[in-house]
Amino acid sequence: MKRLLLFSLPILIIISVVFAFFGFFQARSVQERLIDEIKRKAKAVAESMELSAGQILATRDLRKAQRLIEKFETRERLQGCVLYDREGKLFVITKRFSEWKDHQKPYLGEVITQKTPHGELAKFGDYSVYSYVHPVLDDDGQILGLVEVIYDTSYIFTRLTELWKRISIALIALVISILLVSLLTLRQLFVMPVRRLTEWFTRFQRGNIDAKSPIRDTGELGKLAEEVEQVALNLRVARRSMIEEAQVRVEKEDLWTEKRLQDLVVAKLGENSLFVVSNREPYIHVFDVERNETKMMFPASGVVTAIDPIMRACGGTWVAHGSGNADTKFVNSRNKIGVPPGDERYILKRVWLTKEEEEGYYYGFANEGLWLLCHVTHTRPIFREVDWQIYRKVNEKFADALLEELPADNPFVFIQDYHFTLLPQMIKQKRPDATIALFWHIPWPNPEVFSICPYQEEILEGMLCCDLIGFHVQNNCNNFLDTANRLMESRVDTEKFSVVKSGRETLVRAFPISIDGSVFGKPTESVLNQKEKIREELKLDGKIVAVSVERIDYTKGIVERLLAIDRFLEKYPEFKTRFVFIQIAAPSRTHIKRYHDLTGEIDELIERKNWKYAEGDWSPIIYLKRQFTPEEISPYYQLADLCIVSPLHDGMNLVAKEFISAKNDLSGILLLSRFAGAARELTDAVQINPYATEEFAESIKDAIEMPVEEKRRRMERMREIVGKNNIFFWAANIIAELTGVKNTQPLRKE
Ligand code: G6P
Repeated sequence: MKRLLLFSLPILIIISVVFAFFGFFQARSVQERLIDEIKRKAKAVAESMELSAGQILATRDLRKAQRLIEKFETRERLQGCVLYDREGKLFVITKRFSEWKDHQKPYLGEVITQKTPHGELAKFGDYSVYSYVHPVLDDDGQILGLVEVIYDTSYIFTRLTELWKRISIALIALVISILLVSLLTLRQLFVMPVRRLTEWFTRFQRGNIDAKSPIRDTGELGKLAEEVEQVALNLRVARRSMIEEAQVRVEKEDLWTEKRLQDLVVAKLGENSLFVVSNREPYIHVFDVERNETKMMFPASGVVTAIDPIMRACGGTWVAHGSGNADTKFVNSRNKIGVPPGDERYILKRVWLTKEEEEGYYYGFANEGLWLLCHVTHTRPIFREVDWQIYRKVNEKFADALLEELPADNPFVFIQDYHFTLLPQMIKQKRPDATIALFWHIPWPNPEVFSICPYQEEILEGMLCCDLIGFHVQNNCNNFLDTANRLMESRVDTEKFSVVKSGRETLVRAFPISIDGSVFGKPTESVLNQKEKIREELKLDGKIVAVSVERIDYTKGIVERLLAIDRFLEKYPEFKTRFVFIQIAAPSRTHIKRYHDLTGEIDELIERKNWKYAEGDWSPIIYLKRQFTPEEISPYYQLADLCIVSPLHDGMNLVAKEFISAKNDLSGILLLSRFAGAARELTDAVQINPYATEEFAESIKDAIEMPVEEKRRRMERMREIVGKNNIFFWAANIIAELTGVKNTQPLRKE
């Protein structure tokens, strides 16, 4: 409609102006003609009365005068006649127009003295009239009296109104015709060809190129379409040769790098790019009320830390919840944005959730139900029916958002985490040709624990529509296979490590997730400068510095760690004033009471312990409670002699790997909870049980006092592991496994 108006509005304006212009002149000329006609009529009538009026006025015969007037008063549109004597006094007047005698007539005197006729248009009561006064002279040219005839002119106005009505109707008819013609022309010349072009493009984007229906159009758009077709062809050819080159490179290289992964994706996935779904989005736009500006934030999330480098390397589309309060301002009409902003490598598609959806799906079912079910922290999970219903609805919403993006053939979908257990089934139902992998970033409990979940069957059924389910460690895989075996009607193949349910096979594999070593690798000059600045500001010179980094979450064991530090200082007072612990913690899920309470508990505990030990300007704990970017964390890793990672239960824990990766001078030691997935790989860390306060405190002392050479040796070995098993290696393994199972069986209804 807007386009139609843009197209036709100028024409309509011009036509209306021309019509108004001609209408005005037409009306003026009609008006003049009609007035002229009246004037002529009035003159003729007055002149034809002159002779009889002369005789009557000479004899002052009132009866004859009356008859004369009555004779003329039947003339068309003649309102009335009046005879005046030579002094201009009224002698006789038409009865029906007798009020005219009260009308002011200053012109009578002028007609008497000058003996010339006078005509004028006048307003009289409700009437518009034309009055014509004619002098009546005797044979000697002496004035005998006057004849006045008065004509009604209102009909001129009626005629003009009708004329304008006709002009307006003609104009409206013309406008409608022009709009219709414009609409048809626009549709034929523009809308239809563009629509054909768009449809063709959409098919091309999805990889559905139909050789039988090339873009065919005539005219300028046809030429454009032909050019587009050529570009598309060149792209296809270029892609094909890229795939072949990539295949050769993948086979040749050894260590997994961003480039090598990129080659693998091109070689294995071909023209189909990667589709990732997660709850947390990698880039969040937030409006800062205090500064009155919008800023971009990188969330504290293991999933984001791991997947973002993969997407940067391989491109593709990442579908996630648009959770930032300024997110809507930065997306296009399809809710997409190129990221990272300024260095666009892949597409982020944001899905919008209502407060009610966020409450039920994210806070409720995912984080008060499943999160607790899977982490052994001895906190009771809460399962509310209403949350479950919303969780299902949100999974459907994500399915819709993803499905409209998928290419025509064999797409690869990589789902992240416990927020989307129902999504695989929803996708497979609509797109049985899709290859789906789900990576579970948190632990998987044993069947007894899982069996308390009221929705266990739906969850397992949803998940078992995947072709591949990945966990961090083998123990989680074993728990999952046990769960499927015990709680579902399915066949577990212990040889292949798969579950067969309703004729569909799902592989279950351990892929220890990792990091992109380059992020915390060799420190840049700015990181080193920052490190010195922090050392000075926090008065860390000559101190033993320990650091912990995480979200404020009860699974991270922050309280247990603070108690262990307290015990350590209590037991070994010689470390007072020499030891500083920096706790970096990002507030998380504070809307949930358990998290809100924990935040308060930590604040209070730190305040109490600092008060207990403070001496001069030294206090043992520095608490930095806010969101930090990777660049901001880097100098703290550089400063740290110890990194304490002590979760009560954790799928992997990437902070442990980040610390190792940051220590390229081989300094420092890692204290790692044996309940973190990372403990399986990083066996050279000092392993601790966060619940055993006494032992934990001892481990802090042992780690500090460990000989430098021993620390270096351990760090070297761990760096080798993290360097080799990096995030690109992780992704490569999953893709290789996925492409091995490509061409999946169609989903069978139960
Ligand atoms: C864990 C989960 C992730 C999640 C992250 C941060 O690592 O496995 O899926 O993104 O915690 O939690 P949040 O709820 O803030 O996304």
